[in-house]
Amino acid sequence: SNQSVYRATTTAPVNIAVIKYWGKRDTTLNLPTNSSLSVTLSQKSLRTLTTASCSANYPTEDTLNLNGKPQEIQSSKRTLACLSNLRALRKALEDANPSLPKLSTHPLRIVSENNFPTAAGLASSAAGFAALVRAVANLYELPQSPRELSRIARQGSGSACRSLMGGYVAWRTGELADGSDSLAEEVAPASHWPEMRALVLVVSAEKKDVPSTEGMQTTVNTSELFATRAESIVPQRMDAIEAAIRDRDFPKFAEITMRDSNTFHATCLDSWPPIFYMNDVSRAAVRLVHDINRAVGRTVAAYTFDAGPNAVIYYEEKDSELVAGTVKAILGANTTGWEGAFYEKLTSVTAP
Ligand code: PMV
Repeated sequence: SNQSVYRATTTAPVNIAVIKYWGKRDTTLNLPTNSSLSVTLSQKSLRTLTTASCSANYPTEDTLNLNGKPQEIQSSKRTLACLSNLRALRKALEDANPSLPKLSTHPLRIVSENNFPTAAGLASSAAGFAALVRAVANLYELPQSPRELSRIARQGSGSACRSLMGGYVAWRTGELADGSDSLAEEVAPASHWPEMRALVLVVSAEKKDVPSTEGMQTTVNTSELFATRAESIVPQRMDAIEAAIRDRDFPKFAEITMRDSNTFHATCLDSWPPIFYMNDVSRAAVRLVHDINRAVGRTVAAYTFDAGPNAVIYYEEKDSELVAGTVKAILGANTTGWEGAFYEKLTSVTAP
């Protein structure tokens, strides 16, 4: 009836790229200049929990509440794009099946909560938009696959398209101007490489220097290194890291991951004016990982950094004492610079 409230609740995980997305060829549709690849982290440690509901009785505007705070949804073009895409899919279902309730005409109420500090720069927008899209798609009972929904989540935040799937996820640039082929796809499920672990090192509360959209545009427009990375370095690395994942070749996976993080941050440094995301503490983590690998005599750990100072360190379970043990003992013992919060995660497949 008209009085009904319809509701769906879901969670979405954080993903951390090993081949970084950096650069937009279309800023409205969030179409990337290069493909990227990420590992989806376990929802036991980092996830967004989102409830979407709708009712003919709700006040006329859609609303979004994040961590207890109402958000300015009408000025967020990215959120509006996601919601209008989802509504259009629901409307098409209703047109095809007139007995369905006309949920597409109801105002939406979205309530979202992270189980990790949102301000700490831990890819919260990826989990956030993935959860928003999944929750509304469930509410609307949309038949679209995660791959098809990734096209919508991408418009919220580029990296969000990779959080609709578990395990190892590639986001292909695509070629079409409308973005219909710029989608995420699972390269391998988490179960393919059950030994993989990620340790998230939270560097003391430092706000992101330059927001990712702004930083990307500065790099695209001013860095002379940028085109080389996007056009020739990344395509080779995508092939090589997919092979390393297929073969569960950790040293190969690790070297490509570290090199791509470094090349991404090099294009930031090469931007004009230069952009710095890593700080002294980040660099201490880089040195420590190289020291551990050198001391052990094989590559047992890989660091990667997003648009902020926090480190994610990938390693295999069999090396957890060597890697997580050493990192916690050395960096964790020194409380200066580190928040002291270590999130140790298993990578795992999401089951939406
Ligand atoms: O999804 P955005 O627009 O926040 O960009 C994310 C960019 C990086 O995190 C630095 C790289 C990536 O691929 O996730």
